[in-house]
Amino acid sequence: MIIDELRIVGSTQTNVVMAAELVRVCKRALKVRPPEPRKEGLGQLVLPFDPDLAWAATTYLRTPTRVLWDVYRSKAVRLEALYDDLMTDIAGDARKLWRDGDGISVEARRVEEFAAGERQIVGTVKNALLDGAHRRGLQLHVDPERPAMRWVARLDDNNELVVSIDLGGGSLSQRGWRRDAGAAPLREHLAAVLLMLCRYDSRNDVLVDPMCGAGTIPIEAIHAARVTPRDVPTLTALGMGRAAEPLFPDADPIAIGCDLDLESLAAARDNARAAGVKVTWQRGDVATLKPEAIAEIVREHGREPGGGLIISNPPYGERLNEHDLEDIYQALGTTLRRFGRGAAAGSWRAGFLVGSPMFEEVMFHAIGRPRIKKPLANANLRAYFYLWDL
Ligand SMILES: C[S@@+](CC[C@H](N)C(=O)[O-])C[C@H]1O[C@@H](n2cnc3c(N)ncnc32)[C@H](O)[C@@H]1O
Repeated sequence: MIIDELRIVGSTQTNVVMAAELVRVCKRALKVRPPEPRKEGLGQLVLPFDPDLAWAATTYLRTPTRVLWDVYRSKAVRLEALYDDLMTDIAGDARKLWRDGDGISVEARRVEEFAAGERQIVGTVKNALLDGAHRRGLQLHVDPERPAMRWVARLDDNNELVVSIDLGGGSLSQRGWRRDAGAAPLREHLAAVLLMLCRYDSRNDVLVDPMCGAGTIPIEAIHAARVTPRDVPTLTALGMGRAAEPLFPDADPIAIGCDLDLESLAAARDNARAAGVKVTWQRGDVATLKPEAIAEIVREHGREPGGGLIISNPPYGERLNEHDLEDIYQALGTTLRRFGRGAAAGSWRAGFLVGSPMFEEVMFHAIGRPRIKKPLANANLRAYFYLWDL
């Protein structure tokens, strides 16, 4: 069956955030509010396909991992029937989904329930796409390394096989600037989710990541503030490409990244250079971070200090023993108290993604109950997002 839906895919528990970001991006880039998406599971949004919407979503969204155009669905449970279904669909499809001479790749995801193996499904979908295009007089070939178009086959919740074009051409989480991963990098789209959950606003918030590792959060914050577009060759191949400018080109965020570890900071510097952003990096122990030092940096930027957002994903386990971890959390708690209300520093919020139950306990004694606590998995590890008003 021919279908026509735009699917925005993110990490589990992020569909509300993705929907909010979609509204913001569409209002700014298209001057319209998008239709209300259907939420599927905890990490997918589905909307009727529209080329403008697809362009805006793929070019500007930062919280999802993929943007897909679902084009065919089959109830077939065997490969022969799947091939026949796809050939019928392609023959009757008026949309221009291919360019003569293009290379394609096909990937299967979540197809364990299908009666055939992943490679056989990939082979069948690929054959149907090549043969179907051939019948329409177009020559496609397989190019797994540099395809003009990536196709994805997956089973939906009703166990029907959906075939989609991956409009972003792979994981949108990879922004292309990471030169050095550091020891425990946060995935870039999750940094964007954290910023949205904290309602980061670069006009009012100085951003400080006191345990920044390879710098993901400060780097992401600068691009998120400007809403930097990404280059999307697949949209060009589909005839939907157009020039894109940052949505907020005048945004002038101040972002500060600190870490105890020199190697991590060197990685952060390399990454920021590759990302084309200016972040103030400082080596330091979270225990010694003071609002006065942050105020000084803000003044150096020619601005008056006025509070902001402390945001981080602190260490939470594996490489550290419980005592060390407790010491770090206690040091962080003491530091956050210095940024608390009444301090000359202005008003601060603090947001964290962390997977250790001990974190909440230690913070409760230091700064009380969080205003927001929300489950948010980090690389399949159970974790929570916390937000405090300090
Ligand atoms: C989970 S990693 C942060 C990863 C980072 N968000 C990224 O994307 O690369 C935690 C970081 O906390 C840093 N750290 C640990 N103890 C610290 C302390 N006392 N003061 C400052 N940084 C510390 C570590 O060096 C590490 O880089």
